[in-house]
Amino acid sequence: MQQAHQFQDGDLVSKDEFYEHVIRGLSKKNKTLHPKYFYDKKGSEYFDQICQLDEYYPYKTELALLPKVARSVAEILTEDYALIEFGAGSLLKVEPLLEHVRGIEQFIPIDISGEHLRDACSQLSARFPALHVHPVEGDFTQQVAVPCAEDLQRIGFFPGSTIGNFSPSEAQNFLQQARATLGPNSYLLIGVDTKKSPACLHRAYNDAQGVTAAFNLNILHRVNQHFDANIDVAKFEHYAFYNATKGCVEMHLVCLHSHEVVLDEVSINFTAGETIHTESSYKYTPQEFGTLAESSGWHVHSHWLADHNMFSVFLLQNAETFV
Ligand code: AVI
Repeated sequence: MQQAHQFQDGDLVSKDEFYEHVIRGLSKKNKTLHPKYFYDKKGSEYFDQICQLDEYYPYKTELALLPKVARSVAEILTEDYALIEFGAGSLLKVEPLLEHVRGIEQFIPIDISGEHLRDACSQLSARFPALHVHPVEGDFTQQVAVPCAEDLQRIGFFPGSTIGNFSPSEAQNFLQQARATLGPNSYLLIGVDTKKSPACLHRAYNDAQGVTAAFNLNILHRVNQHFDANIDVAKFEHYAFYNATKGCVEMHLVCLHSHEVVLDEVSINFTAGETIHTESSYKYTPQEFGTLAESSGWHVHSHWLADHNMFSVFLLQNAETFV
């Protein structure tokens, strides 16, 4: 997986939680499925493919910006640090930081997919043999106990604009939670996708090869497998658009033909034309994200913008440091 992901079968999402979320989400007037359920093995493979698409600019743009960010961060942060990555995935984006920021003594990646994380950590340890790597299998959206050495300051790292998949109030919650996890005198380096032309956003979430469509539809295959159900996936179509009022790309699955589905004895009616809302991907201007961060107890220390303002990275400082 490229990064940040997340919830897989056999990991920390229990079947009961999955069952409840699916039944609840599909019983609502405006049907929903939670985006964390995209990331089974197949869904994670689709996401990797999305990251390689020409149209999907966020992954490559952030990756290209990170060496410059890391060089600046190296000048700002000169103590000894523990670096904590939230939703660490394949650990591809942390390498520029480890290469440039000299004082990183300990690295603690948190991810819900433990096996995948441990494999990635072994490879990273081979590249950075002096680094102390302590993977933590856990849900980074909750407060997590991190095994940091007492004498080290903490820097959080949350790349990929995964924060965009939270609603603004969930994002505020996450930022507050991260502040509690990281503690006093901490920093958070976070990748945030920017507002831009709706045409560009449309291309990024409606790629010509149909990979994003397959990624979106895969969530229905996953529901079918878990419930041994009969959702006719061919009766749904991927639909993604930029909602300028909310400032997010919304992904939906549109039902093309009315039909009834039975999920473990619960009957769900799908009506032609209705949609299942599967994901929102919020985009922020630097000012908007700065305001969100400040309202969550962080001070904006610095931020960097990719060419044409295509993506942003923020260095936040725990505001308690200033009290
Ligand atoms: C993981 N996340 C930041 C991606 C995004 O852009 O919101 C997920 C994604 N959905 C469709 N394409 C990529």
